[in-house]
Amino acid sequence: MINGKTRICGLIGNPVEHTLSPVIHNLLAEKYSQNLVYVPFLVEDAFLEQAISGAKALNVLGCNVTVPYKSNVIPWLKELDPLAKKIGAVNTLVLTKDGYKGYNTDMPGLLRAMKSDGVAVTGKEVIILGAGGVARAVAYLMAQEQAKKIWVVNRTIEKAKEIEKEIKEQYLHCEIEAITYDNLTCLEGNGYLAIQATSVGLYPNDDEVIVEAKSFYQKLEVAYDLIFNPKETMFMKLAKKEGVRAYNGLKMLLYQGIIAYELWTKTTVCETIIDEVYMRLREEI
Ligand code: ATR
Repeated sequence: MINGKTRICGLIGNPVEHTLSPVIHNLLAEKYSQNLVYVPFLVEDAFLEQAISGAKALNVLGCNVTVPYKSNVIPWLKELDPLAKKIGAVNTLVLTKDGYKGYNTDMPGLLRAMKSDGVAVTGKEVIILGAGGVARAVAYLMAQEQAKKIWVVNRTIEKAKEIEKEIKEQYLHCEIEAITYDNLTCLEGNGYLAIQATSVGLYPNDDEVIVEAKSFYQKLEVAYDLIFNPKETMFMKLAKKEGVRAYNGLKMLLYQGIIAYELWTKTTVCETIIDEVYMRLREEI
């Protein structure tokens, strides 16, 4: 029930119409009987600074931040969590006395999703497909989790090389190499963990896939697509055809939300409720 004590959280982005975050947070608030409501805030580029100062002025408890503001929001924050600072991207804002503190819950979210799916990173050779904002953050996570070697694959090689350079500077012992899709045939052996971090295959382009070659999928042990709509992408289908375990990005979405909610409400969400939220998300797609 909305009353005088209701706290507000929301999503800052453009566009925001298709977000599933209100489903996550309003269900969590209901389950924990928290007087909290989560709403979308469509923010135009020119108003980002006012949106942040306005949210503070209106005592908004917390926000998620999505495309295209995960990096541009940083100058308007009072404090940055070290991980968010390192990655250079923020997806969660928490109200403090002076303004907002920015966090990145996408990467810990992906890590928790992988753990829950029984996917290990340490000591693995990892192939990241894509070199956009998401792929870059994934590269940081893989470096931090001590992957044996990271391959960053991108159509535009310069972007992959930038990630390679940055990671090498931050993680001195990390082995990382930028390549194009043509070079995938050069990868030797098998047992790779592949993370699909491009937008190729996203609804409504369900039939598109970033790599078609059967020989690529035969080298994998696990295929992780960060896309969650459709539930089973063409990337996952091709991987499964070769007997490879394949997962979509819905659990990453789930856990980034759980971690954000825990930051806002200073609570720990239990496994039973996490499962319920996951079921609800599956129904929503
Ligand atoms: P995000 O923030 O979601 O990572 P982005 O920064 O726009 O989004 O990155 C999108 C990624 O998908 C990039 O790696 C992009 O490759 P380029 O850097 O070469 O543009 C990749 N991508 C998108 N469409 C693609 C396509 N048709 N073929 C190959 N790569 C594609």
